[in-house]
Amino acid sequence: MRQVKTLGLLGTGVIGGGWAARALHFGIDVIAADVKPSMEAWIRGAVANAEPALARLTSAPLPPKGKLSFTTDLNVMASQADFIQENIPEQLELKQRMLAEVSRHAASDVIIASSTSGLTPTDLARDLVAPERFLVAHPFNPVYLLPLVELVGGAATAPATIEAAAVFFRYIGMHALHVRREVPGHLTDRLQEALWREILHMVNEGVATTGELDESIVYGPGLRWAAMGTNMIYHLAGGESGMRHMLAQFGPCLKWPWTKLEAPELNETLIDRMVEGTQAQAGGRSIRELERLRDDYLVAIQQVLRQYDIGAGATLRALEERLYVDARAGAGPGDGGLHAEGQPLPLVSTVVRPEWVDYNGHMSDFRYGQLFGDAMDALYRAVGVDAAYRASGFMFYTVESHTTHVAEAKVSEPITVSTQILGVDDKRLRVFHTVRRRADGKLLATGEQMHLHVDAKAAKAAPTDARVREKLEQMARAHAELPLPAAAGRHVGQPKG
Ligand SMILES: NC(=O)c1ccc[n+]([C@@H]2O[C@H](COP(=O)([O-])OP(=O)(O)OC[C@H]3O[C@@H](n4cnc5c(N)ncnc54)[C@H](O)[C@@H]3O)[C@@H](O)[C@H]2O)c1
Repeated sequence: MRQVKTLGLLGTGVIGGGWAARALHFGIDVIAADVKPSMEAWIRGAVANAEPALARLTSAPLPPKGKLSFTTDLNVMASQADFIQENIPEQLELKQRMLAEVSRHAASDVIIASSTSGLTPTDLARDLVAPERFLVAHPFNPVYLLPLVELVGGAATAPATIEAAAVFFRYIGMHALHVRREVPGHLTDRLQEALWREILHMVNEGVATTGELDESIVYGPGLRWAAMGTNMIYHLAGGESGMRHMLAQFGPCLKWPWTKLEAPELNETLIDRMVEGTQAQAGGRSIRELERLRDDYLVAIQQVLRQYDIGAGATLRALEERLYVDARAGAGPGDGGLHAEGQPLPLVSTVVRPEWVDYNGHMSDFRYGQLFGDAMDALYRAVGVDAAYRASGFMFYTVESHTTHVAEAKVSEPITVSTQILGVDDKRLRVFHTVRRRADGKLLATGEQMHLHVDAKAAKAAPTDARVREKLEQMARAHAELPLPAAAGRHVGQPKG
């Protein structure tokens, strides 16, 4: 299967727009095709709307953004794409016809995938030129922030197609979940439908409002689901004997059962209750406003989960590892992706995020620590202290820090953090960070830190790996001629000058 440099999209609505934003962000060109010429402006707007949240997802080094082009001629799209993702309306006959058409114009090693929420791949592939290169790749809205993509093969899909598709989706930061057997609704929509059906029943019977039912998830199970899912959570609910006890205790209730298998009739009263209920919950906020709120918390949740290396946070970590490795490879051997060359190393380039700012409108104290931490992460990766190194039980701990606040870092201001190596020995690394406003280079803050190399299991300082130390010393030599920063070695309360 070919390397994917250009993603072709058929249908550029909500889902097509989400695919475009994600692919472009991670350096893939996109050629988007839709029957309606007006969708060009729409998809460009959708990509621009996604950008603020996507830009905050990770501070790992990204490749240059991909380029977006648009056509109303699906044959042009099909003949230029390295991978085609179909996102037209959920109608079997329409999808069968359009997929068959696309397959006649695609090159012989191009994979074609459908975003269908519930149609099965064998049905969709009926008239395809090469059904072995077809699969369902079902994403979730917003595609640019939710990593899950369900991969489902049909009767004729080659295993190599699933594998190659998974490689591509992982490359753009997704969690590819291979669904073993094709079933209508795949896995997730089948589960979501069961919940949704019960919601409709309870609203229909006047048991609860849409708002109350959302509360029943948001304050409880929703928080648990983000990291562990239903089965693991129930395993924990069974006490020491886990799932076995859980089934013994609650299994008999399943015979009652609490739930109903048939959906209620969607009559006007029920539709009104659902619509009025959700309008009351929105409280006058527009869909755009609510989308921004949703995007912001989706980014924040993934960053928290990343600290625990769990769920979508583990996917984000794996993506970042790959981005750092690629950045290093692009920089050539020996220099770890960073060219010291007698200048402090530019390690972090970011913008001051709204949630970093305190009641004064300036960046909060503890966020400086986070920036210095991000800078050290980048430095460590560049010298070979990566996930594998940490897994071997060795790492650096920060043992001392001193921050000076020189000028205000205001919300949305682009800033950079550069780092000077002040000293390296067998176990210690002394560094000096400067935070500057990117627009005019103004100094905003400095941070001096001592890091200690430790054997985490023995909980004591240990000599640094020889190769890591050699790289750090190389950087230190490149910085040896730099003047000692004025704030280096300062203590709190020391007079200026
Ligand atoms: N919306 C979701 O939450 C969601 C989530 C996952 C998967 N999906 C699936 O993704 C697909 C698209 O859903 P959507 O919500 O983006 O729909 P949408 O209505 O927002 O977009 C569909 C787009 O397809 C275009 N289109 C229609 N016929 C076409 C044709 N013959 N050739 C080219 N373009 C054509 C339309 O102009 C429109 O822009 C569906 O199969 C849906 O089940 C949707």
